[in-house]
This record gives sequence, C-alpha cells and structure tokens, in this order.
Amino acid sequence: MGKAASASQRPEAEGAEAQGPAGGGVPRHVAIIMDGNGRWAKARGLPRAAGHRQGAEAARKVLRAAGEAGVECLTLYAFSSENWRRPEDEINDLMGLLRLYIARELGALHKEGIRIKILGDHGVFSPETARMVDEAVAKTANNQRMTLAIALNYGSRLELVKAAQTLAARAATGEIAPSDIDEAALEASLDTADLPPLDLLIRTSGEHRLSNFLLWQAAYAELLFVDTLWPDFDGDALRAALRAFAGRERRFGGR
Ligand code: IPE
Ligand code: IPE
Ligand code: MG
Repeated sequence: MGKAASASQRPEAEGAEAQGPAGGGVPRHVAIIMDGNGRWAKARGLPRAAGHRQGAEAARKVLRAAGEAGVECLTLYAFSSENWRRPEDEINDLMGLLRLYIARELGALHKEGIRIKILGDHGVFSPETARMVDEAVAKTANNQRMTLAIALNYGSRLELVKAAQTLAARAATGEIAPSDIDEAALEASLDTADLPPLDLLIRTSGEHRLSNFLLWQAAYAELLFVDTLWPDFDGDALRAALRAFAGRERRFGGR
C-alpha cells in the first residue's frame, strides 16, 4: 500500500487516535455536571443549602472512588458562569461551602497526592475565597497521583473566546502565522490544556444538556445521563458509570 493510502498517515486519523481508549478499560478523564442538589433538598423539605452540603459529601466519595479505580483526572462542575443568576443568598452558601471544603479537605487531598486544578476564572470571587483556592492549587501543584479539576465560574464559550483572543494576539505580534492556528493550538490554549483527553462526561439529575460545560472537549467523549440526584451519587454510582463506559464502543469516526 502506498504512503498516501495509509489511513494512519492522515492527520485526522492521528487526531482520533490521540483522543483516548477505543472502548473498554478505565477512562483517563471523567467530568461530572453535578446537578440536582436543589431538588434533593426540596424533596426532603430542606433548604437548598442542605442539598449543596450533601452534594459536597458526594464529591468527596466520588473523588475517592475515581482514584481507587485508576481514573487520572476527575473534573467537577461546581459553579458555572451562568450560576451568578441565582439569588445572592444561594451564591453565598455555595462560596461558603467551597471554603469549608478546602479548609476540611486540603490536607487529606495533598497527602493522597492529588493535584488541584481550576478551570474558569475564580479571580472574581471574594478575596478570601480566591486566596483559599489559590493556596489549594499552589500547595498541591507538584502532586502526581491524580488531578481534581474544579470548574469555578466556568463557561465553555468564554473559555473558547479567550483561547481565540490569545491566539489572535500572538498572530498580531507575528509570533505565529494565522495558519498556525489549528486544532492542537486551540486545544493548547484552553483551560484544560494539561489534562488528559475527556473520555466520559456524566450529568446527574435527569437533565439532558451540557449547560456550557466542556463543549470542545466533549467532541468525542462518551456521554452518560443518569436520573440520580447529585447528593445521592456515591462510589457505587461512579463504579456503575465506569462499567457503562467500559461497555461502550468508541469509533472516533472509524468503523
Ligand atoms: C447543582 O444543583 C449545583 C449547582 C449548580 C451549583 P442545583 O442547585 O442546580 O440543583 P437543581 O438543579 O436546582 O435541583
Ligand atoms: C450546571 O447546572 C452547572 C453546575 C452543575 C455547576 P445548572 O443547574 O446550573 O444548569 P441548568 O441551569 O439546569 O442548565
Ligand atoms: Mg440544576
């Protein structure tokens, strides 16, 4: 077979191979849209804050289960750039919970070799909250066993706009040519640049949408929508999701 006829020589085929396991096995990168805290609380006649508190517990359990299963990176959608539309009280509850989670968990996460990474812009949070987040990132920066990526004030469209601006600025100074802006260059300008390719994207609570989360990265991810409300999601639920992933056949456009 001549060189031109070999599919593996073509850039699009190489790109597909770089995306992740073809099926079976453990996903390297799992992302979760942790949804349903409010409904969980409402069903129990509790304030929404109680649902968020229980949701933080679920995050602890799921992180542990993911690490035990050999997942390299777990990305959690904790606060979207659209969540500013919520009442101030609820936003304050969520920020308080984030600080509490860091204060309580940082030592253990560090000991377990977990690197904390932030997607989105937490710089606009209160100085105290932003400082705690920065500290957590700095303290765990050299850890290698696993990455916990937390999406805070994150929106995928804005992430893409910022990547376009970064690349356009480099082209304007002549550092790169416009034709150098390819898929790899754009990907390298996203917040997720140093994370493994996204293999599995889970959304809880029965909603079937992405809500501005990892739009680029999800191009060939396996999607899993479950009815479980996030506070009820636990290690067993995560293991069931990993089994579902193992049963999927990924083709990346091939056959
Ligand atoms: C997810 O639960 C938590 C965040 C978005 C921060 P929700 O608060 O969205 O819960 P529901 O969707 O109203 O049940
Ligand atoms: C997505 O959930 C954001 C997070 C889980 C942080 P939302 O509850 O905000 O999404 P919509 O509004 O139902 O799309
Ligand atoms: Mg919701």
